[in-house]
Amino acid sequence: MSEALRVGLAGLGTVGGGVIRLLDANRELIARRAGRAIEVVAVSARDRYKDRGVDLTRFAWVDDTTALAQQADVDVVVELIGGSDGPALTLARSTLAADKSFVTANKAMLAHHGYELATAAEAARVALKFEAAVAGGIPVIKGLREGAAANAIGRVYGILNGTCNFILSKMEAEGRDFAEILAEAQALGFAEADPSFDIDGVDAAHKLSILASIAFGTRPAFDTVAASGIRHLLGADIAEAAALGYRVRLLGLAEDGPDGLFQRVHAHLVPVDHPLAHVTGSLNAVVAEGNFVGRLLFQGAGAGDGPTATAV
Ligand SMILES: NC(=O)c1ccc[n+]([C@@H]2O[C@H](COP(=O)([O-])OP(=O)(O)OC[C@H]3O[C@@H](n4cnc5c(N)ncnc54)[C@H](OP(=O)(O)O)[C@@H]3O)[C@@H](O)[C@H]2O)c1
Repeated sequence: MSEALRVGLAGLGTVGGGVIRLLDANRELIARRAGRAIEVVAVSARDRYKDRGVDLTRFAWVDDTTALAQQADVDVVVELIGGSDGPALTLARSTLAADKSFVTANKAMLAHHGYELATAAEAARVALKFEAAVAGGIPVIKGLREGAAANAIGRVYGILNGTCNFILSKMEAEGRDFAEILAEAQALGFAEADPSFDIDGVDAAHKLSILASIAFGTRPAFDTVAASGIRHLLGADIAEAAALGYRVRLLGLAEDGPDGLFQRVHAHLVPVDHPLAHVTGSLNAVVAEGNFVGRLLFQGAGAGDGPTATAV
């Protein structure tokens, strides 16, 4: 077997911790399938002394996150910090400039800087991988990029934000208004203290711009996504939709139309007999329509440590 692939891991929160646990649990299986072991050798986060429920003493601790890219014993950097700019972007640039491959779950960064980073990776002839940035554990990037590579995709759309889908499903099941369910979701830890990126459609727009760039072979164009969210929906709206045979879902949709790429995120009425009407709770789902394969449906967990670590 070849020598181990040595990973520098930046960010040890929900996803970073999940990646360490996954590599620990599935070490043998991954090595067998990959033909070489994958080993974390160095880690970085803000607080060195935080208890993360995993043993970090076996890894080198790097205070300055950017320095991970320069470590001679690091082959690949995995960025799980988040944020469109700041330390994540600095690390991405310095990793690619050091001719090392870069893996990230950071949709915000890719929506804003994806083209620059893809160009830098191509110039350095290294990999830029971001399966976890869209729809968590669902292998939709690989599915579209490889599985559906022989098809022209006419349309791609889906449920790209688990928090919104959780809230909408609960509004539907319990007939209550948005604000009440959001407060409950926050108390349970399903929604962020500042939920605006989720509920105003920004997070879904980040993911949609990446998905569309893969489906249509274009640059990610986050600025042209028309996005609105679900904060103004009432329980009565959902009940009215149900009476007419529809469910309400926040969808991101990208279409290759006569005027070019059309991208939008907003609450849609989905007929009850459409598969997306049956995607409930925090699940995500993506539909892609290819000219030879027809309608493809990808569904699964869009977030959480295990699913997202799987995609990483
Ligand atoms: N959570 C999910 O289910 C999910 C799903 C798909 C994609 N993602 C993406 O995955 C990425 C990570 O998400 P997460 O949920 O794991 O976030 P998180 O739990 O908030 O963890 C973020 C980590 O980054 C570290 N960090 C923050 N600022 C830093 C800085 N200035 N320098 C060094 N380290 C810093 C934090 O350090 P400390 O721990 O020391 O504070 C923490 O370990 C994000 O891009 C997110 O969008 C998350």
